[in-house]
Formats: sequence, structure tokens, C-alpha cells
Amino acid sequence: MLDKIAQIKDSAIRQIESCSDIDQLNQLKVKYLGRKGELTDILRSIGKLSAQERPAVGKLAGEVKALISQRLQEIFSSLEAKQQSPQEFFDITMPGRRPSVGKKHPLTQLIDEIVKIFHGMGFSVAEGPDVETEYYNFDALNTPADHPSRDIQDTFYLENGELLRTHTSPVQIRVMEKQRPPVRIIAPGKCYRRDTPDATHSPNFHHVEGLYVDTDVTMADLKGTLVVFAQQLLGKEVRVRFRPHFFPFTEPSVEWDFSCTACGGKGCNLCKGTGWIEISGAGMVDPAVFEAVGYDSEKYSGYAFGMGVERIAMVKYGINDIRLFYENDLRFIQQF
Ligand code: PHE
Repeated sequence: MLDKIAQIKDSAIRQIESCSDIDQLNQLKVKYLGRKGELTDILRSIGKLSAQERPAVGKLAGEVKALISQRLQEIFSSLEAKQQSPQEFFDITMPGRRPSVGKKHPLTQLIDEIVKIFHGMGFSVAEGPDVETEYYNFDALNTPADHPSRDIQDTFYLENGELLRTHTSPVQIRVMEKQRPPVRIIAPGKCYRRDTPDATHSPNFHHVEGLYVDTDVTMADLKGTLVVFAQQLLGKEVRVRFRPHFFPFTEPSVEWDFSCTACGGKGCNLCKGTGWIEISGAGMVDPAVFEAVGYDSEKYSGYAFGMGVERIAMVKYGINDIRLFYENDLRFIQQF
């Protein structure tokens, strides 16, 4: 009996050690240690042996079983490791490759910052579609059919009579149609105009619209809000200037400027010697706009403003060509 066990041990170890395949190894495991395995048979029959034979056979059979399972385990592990890394050598001292992490486009970063400042003043974000109807982009904003801003020169019309919005002001109308005053929203988004691209023009650009409607809203509220905004964005020294202007949807209307951050208002290249940088338009919501959305223009007043995101980005970062924002040259984008 002892000889037989020794024989089993020798052949099992030999086969296991020369095995190079996991399936084959599994078969060997069954052959030697399985329920019908050769060694299992012996262990099971120990009870039938004489009292003299029993201790020695039991001890040896137990030891051989332990040895076989240990060798099986070792060969299993090494076969598995080989499967995982086909290359025998893996140089753990080699420096790793750093994954390059993407980030937000500078204009998106700036819009996020603008939104955050207005959040702090109680404004929430509203959105509208890029493809608009003439009604939302013009009519409801008191812009009559013969107004020059409707000119085919300025507006991209689509074949179905819709158009690419020329400003974010239609979002004002969409919000007021759904909501009663008080309204306090900003609407960031893309705008489109048939402009020939140059250093300061792009047919696609970004605006952030603002709208505040309540009882007793005044022009002073408008200016106060824009001053706080400018100072939070660009620093305490920045000043805001209003110049009289005309927009069909505001009355009175202004254009608003930041004092130039590059020269502090003395006049330089960036501000073309004027000391001021034009941001966009603003004004008190025209009563005709309130009528279009069913607000009582005797009871409510409000202000609206727009701002050109690229304009602000150019001032904030001292960039002199708007086209840099759209070329997606990583050398430019990665600086922000
Ligand atoms: N929509 C105007 C423009 O595109 C800006 C503006 C917004 C003016 C709100 C007044 C009020 O230039």
C-alpha cells in the first residue's frame, strides 16, 4: 500500500510539473484529488486496514494529498500569471504614461464664471433653441418687419422660414410666456449673424442675456447690477459706462462699456485709445414687449441686458483676435 502511494505521488508530481495548460491541470486535479481519484480511493479504504498498517498509510496518504494540492496551486498561479502578461518581463521601474486630462474651453469657463456671479445675485439660468422663429427673434421683441436687423445681410434664414437666432433676447420672451413676475434670469448661448470673420467678428458668437422684471425696477438697478458684475469679474477698479443707444425692445436703451483693463482707462491698443471696451446693449424693457407676453406694463417694469462673451474674454485675457477661440489650437486652449 505504501508503495502504491509513493507511486501515485511520483506520477502526480511529474505530470503536474510538466503541465502547461490550465484545462489539463484541472483534469489532473480531478484525477488525483477528485471524488473518484486514485488517492481518494486509498484514503477512503483506510478504515478497512489492520490496526498495524493504518497509522503509517494514513500519515503518508495525508502528506501526499497535501503535497499534490500545493504543487497544483503553484502551477495554477504561474499559468494564470503567464496568461495575463504574455511578456515574460515587465519593467516596473519604467516611468508611467500620464493620461492627458481634458478641460473646458476658455469660453465655457468664462460663461460658467458669469453664471456663478449672477447666481450670487439671485438670477437663475434659462435656455432657448438656436433655431428660432421670426416671432421670437423679432416680432415679439417689437422689431417690425422692415427693421434693418432683419435684413438678409444679418440673419441666417433657413429654408422653412425659421432662422438662426441673432441674439439671446428671444429667451426673454420664452421665459415671460411661461412665468409671472418676478422674473430674474440670465440666458447664455450661441448667436449667429452673417458677418465676415475678422479679428473682431465671427458669424457665430456667444451672448449672455439678462432679464429682471418686477414692480418698481429702475435703470439704477440695471447699472448697479452691471457694476457689481463687472467688479466681481474683473476687479474693483473696473468702471461701467452707459451710452445712449436704440434697441426696439428696450426704452430707454444704452450700450454699456467696461473701462479698459489693459490700460486702466488711459487708452491703449486693446481699447483703440478710447479707454473703454464695448460689451453690448441694455435698457428698460419696452412696454410693447410686455404686451406681447401678456404682462401688465402699467404694473411691471424691468431691465434687460446682453453681453458678448468673446468681447469679455478678449478684455479679461488680453486677446486681440476673436478667431483664436474657434480654431481649437491646443497651444492656445491649454493656456486657460
Ligand atoms: N440683443 C441685443 C444685441 O444683440 C443686446 C440687448 C439685450 C440689448 C438686451 C438690450 C437688451 O445687441
